[in-house]
Amino acid sequence: MVTALIMAGGEGTRFWPLSRSNRPKQFLKLTDDQKTMLQETVERIKELVPPDKVFIATNESYKEAIKKQLPEVPEENIIIEPYKRDTAACIGLASLYIEKKFPGSTMVVLPADHLIKNKERFINILQKAVMTAAVGPNLVTIGIEPTHPETGYGYIHFGELLHTIDEDRVYQVKEFTEKPDLDTAREFLEEGTYLWNSGMFVWRVETIQDKIEKHMPELSKAMERIRQALGTDLEDKVVREEFKELEGISIDYGIMEKASDIYVIPGDFGWDDLGSWPALERVKKVDKDGNVVLGKHYGIDTKNSIIHSEDKVVTTIGLKDIVIVNTRDAILICDKKRAQEVKEIREILHRNG
Ligand code: GDD
Ligand code: MG
Repeated sequence: MVTALIMAGGEGTRFWPLSRSNRPKQFLKLTDDQKTMLQETVERIKELVPPDKVFIATNESYKEAIKKQLPEVPEENIIIEPYKRDTAACIGLASLYIEKKFPGSTMVVLPADHLIKNKERFINILQKAVMTAAVGPNLVTIGIEPTHPETGYGYIHFGELLHTIDEDRVYQVKEFTEKPDLDTAREFLEEGTYLWNSGMFVWRVETIQDKIEKHMPELSKAMERIRQALGTDLEDKVVREEFKELEGISIDYGIMEKASDIYVIPGDFGWDDLGSWPALERVKKVDKDGNVVLGKHYGIDTKNSIIHSEDKVVTTIGLKDIVIVNTRDAILICDKKRAQEVKEIREILHRNG
């Protein structure tokens, strides 16, 4: 049986000011006019995992929004982390709920905020990942052919071929490196034997719990105590106590960099993690001047810019390579090359109340 865990507790800080702590990237309609990224994520895996087997992990403040956006997902499948402790704790906790409701299942772990162009091909690759995960204590990743030395991703060094399913190759993974520095990323790209980690994982519930026990004993201990309390009056209290004490570590650092039995299937379904504003050039219509305009904009000599306005008309003269985002109570004006730094602006704002 196949279940899915959608991780929807991130803050998506690089889409500020459109994304806010109460409205992170997964709740924005960035790629589709009608649906949020989270709704699209649930929709696209329907054929492989029906909504009653989909679990969403998030925090308390997003729960109502998720219930409203996803009425087809049973409320008890929305898992609340009382403190944000990153994706390893998220996956560990969710594995307990999934184990209880669907014992022995193979879980597909997905981020809530990625763009996937070819849905059929995506499902096809996931099916092959499920087949590979079901036959052993295997951690299966979906790899993406890298195009530039991105430092915001994990890199998967693939080795020998494990097996081929139809035309698709499944490789053993020699090493997993999360977010390397620029020089290392450049080396990896030149080698030609590395793939980007798409952030999607497939494994049996039991497999990931064993790997957590081996590589993250603190988390494993917390999970054991939570397991005992599940379904009792103490559940909320124990989850809260244990989460409070945990360190925040992502699954990439906590498990993937350390574990053995990792496999990768290259995924050629058109993937984009929409990391920051300039990513919109890859998914939205670009006009004859090279601009992406969402909302009302009039410009003279304005080129290769991203302009997003919720209400007011934006006018520009003699600009190029700029990001302008206007929301009701905040405006961002930013050099396109430095759009990654938007998350720092958000930190500055936080510090200054
Ligand atoms: N529930 C929950 N709790 N979800 C979380 C938490 C958490 O504490 N932290 C992050 N998430 C969610 C985010 O909303 C997103 O959907 C997903 O988990 C991944 O988290 P990111 O914070 O976006 O990770 P990243 O982009 O820095 O890196 C990951 O994704 C890259 C590809 O986009 C890694 O897996 C990299 O190796 C990978 O290349
Ligand atoms: Mg991400």
